[in-house]
Amino acid sequence: MFESLLFDKQEVEPRPGGCIAWITLNRPEKLNAVNLQMRDEMWTAMEWVRSDPDVGAIVLRGAGERAFSAGADITEFGTAPSYVEARRARHERDLWGLMLAIEKPMIASIRGFALGAGCEMSLCCDLRIASEDASFGLPEVKLGYIPSAGGTQLLPRTIARGNALLMILTGEPISARQALDFGLVQWVVPAGDLQARTEELARRVVARPAPAVRRAKEAVVRGLDLPLEEGVRMEWRLGRALEAVT
Ligand code: COA
Repeated sequence: MFESLLFDKQEVEPRPGGCIAWITLNRPEKLNAVNLQMRDEMWTAMEWVRSDPDVGAIVLRGAGERAFSAGADITEFGTAPSYVEARRARHERDLWGLMLAIEKPMIASIRGFALGAGCEMSLCCDLRIASEDASFGLPEVKLGYIPSAGGTQLLPRTIARGNALLMILTGEPISARQALDFGLVQWVVPAGDLQARTEELARRVVARPAPAVRRAKEAVVRGLDLPLEEGVRMEWRLGRALEAVT
């Protein structure tokens, strides 16, 4: 089905929203670096999970033991036929925008390196669970770029501004323990337990009424960009809409 991804749907309960979609970045020999093919396939996979009524939660993880993802494939840097074409492809298939638009809860299960776009993909998820050997970093400035898969916007919305700037301005990676201290991840577990703990978490989310989970996520995510008063009004509207259907 895909070459750079593995895709699996696991039924937890036989009802709409009762499945977990497992998406595995699958270029372990390249530390799951995100090349153009993976980016396109991710876009397709994300469209699937977004529109599939069976899917109640999505888990993103990396194949192998060394990396969630070591970021954009640096061997493809500067290889687009032209700058305009690179921009157009990016605009037409805005993977990061699509990931952020998904209403269903997304969990990043992180083993090993989560660098650059790898770190940013985990930031597009709602919950992050990491193994003790995980590390997180946005090394773009070291290469003369800035994080451009949402990192400069998502990181300071996820952790404290100073900690976000520490990571962005130095480009230095942080350990799983430090990520836990920063609030970048919610759990750090032994590597051997990561899969089981991830599944347990996804099952807990899927067990809740799917419409409530989605509206709760919407309220939090949209509310972060609203003044408090407007956010509370939006929360009230979403709550009323749910009452109307239950
Ligand atoms: N793009 C393309 N290939 C990558 C990659 C990336 N971002 N990250 C790792 N790889 C490849 C390596 O080239 C190597 O391939 P090879 O065996 O064919 O030579 C393979 O993955 C294993 O990586 P390697 O560098 O040998 O492992 P390491 O343990 O020595 O170092 C890292 C691990 C993550 C420190 C190092 O690979 C690295 O710095 N990668 C780039 C990270 C980065 O800058 N990402 C952000 C880009 S904006």
